[in-house]
Amino acid sequence: MSSRAHWSSRLGFILATAGSAIGLGNIWRFPYLVGQNGGCSFLIVYLCCVFGLGYFMLVGKLSFGRAAKTNIVDGFQTIASQAQKNISPTWGFLGGMLTLLNAIIISGVYVTVIGWTLFYTFESFQNLFFFTKNIHEQTTFNNLISSFEIQLFLGTLCILLTAFIISKGVKKGIERVALYLMPLLFILLVVMLIRILVLPNAEKGIAFFLSPNWAAIGFSSEGIDFKLFSKVLLTAVGQSFYSLSLGMGVMFTYGSYLANTNDLKKDARWIVSLDLMVSILAGLIVLPAVFAFNLEPTTGAGLTFMTLPYVFANMWGGELWAFLFYLLLFIAALTSLISIYEPLTALFIDKLKLTRNKATLLTAFLNICFFVLALLSLTKKIHFQLMGKNLFDAFDWITGSVSLSLTMIVCCLFMGWIGFIPIWRNFRRGSRASRVFRTYLKIVLQFIAPFLLTILILMAFI
Ligand code: PFF
Repeated sequence: MSSRAHWSSRLGFILATAGSAIGLGNIWRFPYLVGQNGGCSFLIVYLCCVFGLGYFMLVGKLSFGRAAKTNIVDGFQTIASQAQKNISPTWGFLGGMLTLLNAIIISGVYVTVIGWTLFYTFESFQNLFFFTKNIHEQTTFNNLISSFEIQLFLGTLCILLTAFIISKGVKKGIERVALYLMPLLFILLVVMLIRILVLPNAEKGIAFFLSPNWAAIGFSSEGIDFKLFSKVLLTAVGQSFYSLSLGMGVMFTYGSYLANTNDLKKDARWIVSLDLMVSILAGLIVLPAVFAFNLEPTTGAGLTFMTLPYVFANMWGGELWAFLFYLLLFIAALTSLISIYEPLTALFIDKLKLTRNKATLLTAFLNICFFVLALLSLTKKIHFQLMGKNLFDAFDWITGSVSLSLTMIVCCLFMGWIGFIPIWRNFRRGSRASRVFRTYLKIVLQFIAPFLLTILILMAFI
């Protein structure tokens, strides 16, 4: 094995990769998307997207990284030459840089939201002893998002913690943290679930989550509402890709630390299943909790930071449950942030010949720049706007609606049309797969994913 870092165990790799996938997307975003898009029917569409598309994209990305065994910027060139195809170095460079730009921009937004979870974790922890914090009041959240200083402090704490873990390396940092935190996350989820399911009226939320309402996704006795269905479908596609951490070089980089003997078909199945399981558990916690108090599940992004604190405040032992829930959210988000740092750090180590410590510092510095910019704009300290939005919302919009999809289109087209043979050959080194699997993977990469992603981008502008 070369001097390139590598995972020390299969379990470590699966947990670290699942740790990247499981994050705010599962616990914050997924329940409100289910709430807004008709409950169980959305879940069914989502399941199809995860197993029909996300899984194959993940297999492609992990194999791409493992075949290239380098950083994301050089990866395109390496695979193109393995495929004996000539591509202009500019294309590889652009693909790689776009991926990294996503990571830098999104990390600014991600850190801000992790800061909020840390805030609620601290406040609810204090409530365990002093009962002095009114975290359920709407003003608490409004005050938080308008305070530059508090958010800066909390975000910086998260950045320092992440940088510390990344500086320890793949085995002693990322993998070790995943080995401790991921089991803790699952224990917390199950404990929370049991508590919520015994709430009176929780069954209404379970019914909402588990019994399909076809009309909500466009199927009714009067026919099919194609517009509504495509909106739901594309929301599910976008969420499944985001949840599987596609589009930022994370899966590529984590794959590049793998030995060729790993069975990627099985490993990807584990990662997808763990990710999905957490989304479903989060839905089963958040929605019944909301229904138990006759609240609306369709409030959107505020569900976690405005609706749930109210639920906890009105629940027996709510201080403890609030603390456990926000701790859970914090752990999930931290392991994702760690993964966003790694592709950048790996690139700086390779390209700028920096030590891991220096490369980590540079990544953290870039993260701080975008975080502070987002924060200054969110708290109205600067009035600079991008497309009529403050920078926090603009960064979120650019990555979520445009650049992540754009990067994925570039990657899929590359994997499907240029690098398919070496990527497939690498995949086959540890896994058995039928011709049907191969053909379907190729069709997903060449046509289906680029097509859906293009529509996703167009929809963002309409
Ligand atoms: N998958 C993470 C989540 O669901 O919160 C978000 C994410 C992390 C997206 C890392 C992309 C990424 F590279």
